Amino acid sequence: MEVKLSDGSVIPMEMHKIKIVQQTNLASIEKRKEAIRSAGFNTFLLHSRDVFLDMLTDSGTNAMSDNQQSSMLIADDAYAGSESFFRLEKSVQEIFGLRYVIPAHQGRACEHLLSHVYVRPGTSVITNYHFTTTKAHINLSGGDVLELITDAGRETASSEQFKGNMDLDLLRETIQSHGKDKIAFIRMEATTNLIGGQPFSMENLKAVSEIAKAFGIMTIMDCSLISENAYFIKTREAGFADKSIQAIIQEMIVQVDLIYMSGRKSTMARGGLIATNNEKVYREILPHVPVFEGFITYGGMSTKEIEAIAVGMREMVDPDIAGSGAEFIKYFVNRLADFGVPVVTPPGGLGCHIDAKKFVPHIPWYEYPAAALASAVYLVTGSRGMERGSLSMDRTPDGQEEPSDMELLRLAVPRRTFTMSQLEFMADRIAWLYRNRNLIHGLRWVDEPPVLRFFIGRLESTDGWEDSLEAAFKADFVDSR
Ligand code: F0G
Repeated sequence: MEVKLSDGSVIPMEMHKIKIVQQTNLASIEKRKEAIRSAGFNTFLLHSRDVFLDMLTDSGTNAMSDNQQSSMLIADDAYAGSESFFRLEKSVQEIFGLRYVIPAHQGRACEHLLSHVYVRPGTSVITNYHFTTTKAHINLSGGDVLELITDAGRETASSEQFKGNMDLDLLRETIQSHGKDKIAFIRMEATTNLIGGQPFSMENLKAVSEIAKAFGIMTIMDCSLISENAYFIKTREAGFADKSIQAIIQEMIVQVDLIYMSGRKSTMARGGLIATNNEKVYREILPHVPVFEGFITYGGMSTKEIEAIAVGMREMVDPDIAGSGAEFIKYFVNRLADFGVPVVTPPGGLGCHIDAKKFVPHIPWYEYPAAALASAVYLVTGSRGMERGSLSMDRTPDGQEEPSDMELLRLAVPRRTFTMSQLEFMADRIAWLYRNRNLIHGLRWVDEPPVLRFFIGRLESTDGWEDSLEAAFKADFVDSR
C-alpha cells in the first residue's frame, strides 16, 4: 500500500509490524576491505556476518509471516502422502487454478526437470529473456536459448512500462526460420529478472500464447515473481485496476500450458513447483521427480517449507501484501535517481538495479564494471548486492568471453525485511560513491570456474583501487561507517 503525505509525496506503507528481528553488523571500512579481498571480490563469497544489509538476493531471504511460521509447526513429515503436500496442492489449485502439482526443491530443479524432458540437442527455447540457471539447464541438455525481448527491454532507462514484453514479429519470424519442431518450448519469465525485474503485459502474454498455439508449440511461464508481475499489470495496464491480483494471476496462467516457480521469491519460503492442467504433460514429467528430487509428495523440499509456501501463495495475492515489495523498491529507486545515480527505470519487482555502464563508464566490460561496482558498494555501505552483467555470463563453448547486454548491480530488496532508514543510508552512501566513481577500477580473474562462474569464482582488483577508495571514504566519514 502507498500513502500520500500532506506535502504531496508518496511513501510505501508497511501493512505489518515486526515481531522478531535479527541483529546485523556494520563493520568498519578496514574490516570490509579485508572481507572483500578474502572473498575474491565476489559478493557471493562474503560471510553473512560481515554484511550489514544483505541485498544479494530476494531469494529465500524474505521475512516470513506469523502464519507461515505457525504453519510449519503442523508439517507432516511423511515420506509419501504427506498432508503438507496436499495443503500445497490445494493452494495451487485455488490460487493458480491448476490441477496437477509437481514439487521440486527449488526453481532450478524445475528447470532441470523441464529441460531434461523437453530439450534435445539441436532444439531451441524461445524466451523473453534468459535467467542464469534456466540457460545453464537448457544448454546442459544440448539446447540453446533465443531471447526475443523488445528493444525497450535492453534499455536501462526507459518510460516503457512493460520492458519484459516479447517482440511478437520476431517471435513469428524465429519460429518460421527455425521450424516449429526445433522449438522445445516458449518461456515467459514473469517478471524478467536479469533486465531488472521488468514485467510483461497481459496483452503481450496473450499474443505470445496465440502465436504459440497457432504453431502448436508448448508455452511455459516462470512464475517465480508472478505476484509482482500481476501487480504491475494491475497498476500499469489499462483495464486491470479493478481486478484482484488473484484474478490477474489466473488470467495469466490460463494463457500457458505449464508453469513453474521458485517458491523463494513471491511466496516468501524456500522450494519450488511445476503445475499444469494438462494431464499428458504432468505424466511426462512426474516419473523423473523421484530420480532427481525425491518422492512426488515432497520433491526435495522440507515439509515445513512446503507448508510455508502453501500459506505464502495465499499471502502473495492479499491486496495488502501483493505489491508491497515493489512499492518499497520504487521508493529506493526514486531516492537514488534523486541523487542522480543511474538506475534502471521503471522500477522493477525484485530490487533496485544500478546501471554500471553509466556509473563507471571508464571500466571496460571485460574488467566487469558491475562486479567492480558491487565490491565498491560493499566497501562503502557494508551491504552486498549481486553483479548481473558480463561476469554472470559464462564463456561460449569455444571459450570466448560474451559481453552482457547490460552491466547491472542488483540491490535486491527482500520482502518485509528492511526499513526506510536503511534504504536512506544506502542511497546516501551510494550517492557519495557516485561522486567518487573515478576511484573504482576493474577486476580480473584469479580462479574462474567453467559453469555459472559468478557463484564461486575469485577475482582481484586490477590495480589495488580499493586502497584509494578506502582513503577517500575515511576522509569523509570519520567513524569509517
Ligand atoms: N527463475 C527466476 C526468474 C529466478 O529469479 C530464479 C532465481 C530462478 C528461476 C531459479 O530459482 O533459485 O529457486 O533455483 N533467482 C535467484 C536470484 C537466484 O537471486 O535472483 P531457484
